[in-house]
Amino acid sequence: MEKIIIEGSHRLVGEVTISGAKNSALSILTAAILADSKCTIKNLPNIRDVAYLKDLLLQMGAKVESNKDTMTIDGSCISKHKIDNDLAKKMRASYYFLGALLGKFKTAEIPFPGGCDIGVRPIDLHIKGLEALGAKIKISHGMIKAKATELVGTEIYLDFSSVGATINIMLAACMAKGVTTIENAAKEPYIVDTANFLNAMGAKIKGAGTDVIKIKGVTALHGCEHTIIPDQMEAGTFMAAAAATQGDVLIKNVIPTHLEAISAKLREMGVEITEGEDTLHIRNRVRTKAVNIKTLPYPGFPTDMQQPMSVLLALSDGTAIITESIFESRFKYLDELKRMGAKIKVEGRVAVIEGVKRLSGAPVYATDLRAGAAMVVAGLVAEGKTEISNIEHIDRGYENLEEKLKNLGAKIHRISVAEE
Ligand code: UD1
Repeated sequence: MEKIIIEGSHRLVGEVTISGAKNSALSILTAAILADSKCTIKNLPNIRDVAYLKDLLLQMGAKVESNKDTMTIDGSCISKHKIDNDLAKKMRASYYFLGALLGKFKTAEIPFPGGCDIGVRPIDLHIKGLEALGAKIKISHGMIKAKATELVGTEIYLDFSSVGATINIMLAACMAKGVTTIENAAKEPYIVDTANFLNAMGAKIKGAGTDVIKIKGVTALHGCEHTIIPDQMEAGTFMAAAAATQGDVLIKNVIPTHLEAISAKLREMGVEITEGEDTLHIRNRVRTKAVNIKTLPYPGFPTDMQQPMSVLLALSDGTAIITESIFESRFKYLDELKRMGAKIKVEGRVAVIEGVKRLSGAPVYATDLRAGAAMVVAGLVAEGKTEISNIEHIDRGYENLEEKLKNLGAKIHRISVAEE
């Protein structure tokens, strides 16, 4: 077991380069199995979820080669249409195999997916969408079994603009007969990145990034080369950390439009942000002002960023309200922040944060991936030593976090400890 140790109260100063987007990487690596020849995917983040997905692809019979941030996948030799329970349980995105296997082979068997414990996280919208395309789906003994004689395009309205359901339906619909229309589709940058990748493979997808996506089915998809977009959430975490430590950080390799909701809130709090073509320069020398945040689907404020931002709010001048409207149980980590001196009350999906002047280092627990990121931001700004346990979550989604922070002047390191 490992822990991250941070000696806090050091300003972050310098430059940091953002890695490829985790959520894009996971849907795109799975989409690669739809091709009947090699796909080369570049700018992949070196994170645990990508390693798990690589193992899953290998177990299914795909030929996979990786070199630094590039992976080549030949899905033409996939021999299994069922995915392994232990690996699938480790991450949420294993559900993309349902759409991809069904699209290509008209049969799929996957376990209920794992991932962060932030609420019930049903996949009913995925299932409804795939059934509307003609799949027969049965759930028994924790497995989801899908079969179709053929998939036929249709109109699908999503009750909620779910990221996962939009991508899963897109994956299956690429190889369905006729046209599929997804209404109230999610618009997150990963959807556009995945659609661009599928189109480079020969799919015919229009409207990704808007509420209505139209997919004209094709009979085969071919290999291609694709570069993953930069990670919006990693960039957002560095933005929050730079602002919280009253730092001066140039964040490189970002798409500033993807970060507008976060930039707008930080500016409202008094943080100076200068946008370049693919950079954001964050400067802050003052105690930030409290603001209210409501998480919403893109282009609204991302749910994944409410945790790192809550640290900044815990130290801001005034009282802030966070309303979590995407996941019903994404405030567990606030108990950990309270151990560090934050004043927070939670009522259902609303957290009221009364700003304090300082946080003090403490032993804390990463309850999920972004909660782990929040603990790191809190440790960087707190007085004294913070010890974060359960950091496997952080490794699932952040590449080289300690190195990147050390280069900015943070006093952070990792230790191995015996299992308790
Ligand atoms: C994806 C992201 C995650 C991000 C989230 C919201 C990946 C691997 N994960 O998760 O980082 O926090 O989008 O931006 O890309 N819902 C249903 N039924 C469904 C599907 C979803 O009720 O069939 C509900 C969920 O419980 C949740 C909401 O819809 O309350 C949003 O979920 P969704 O957009 O699907 O998120 P994920 O794909 O799980």
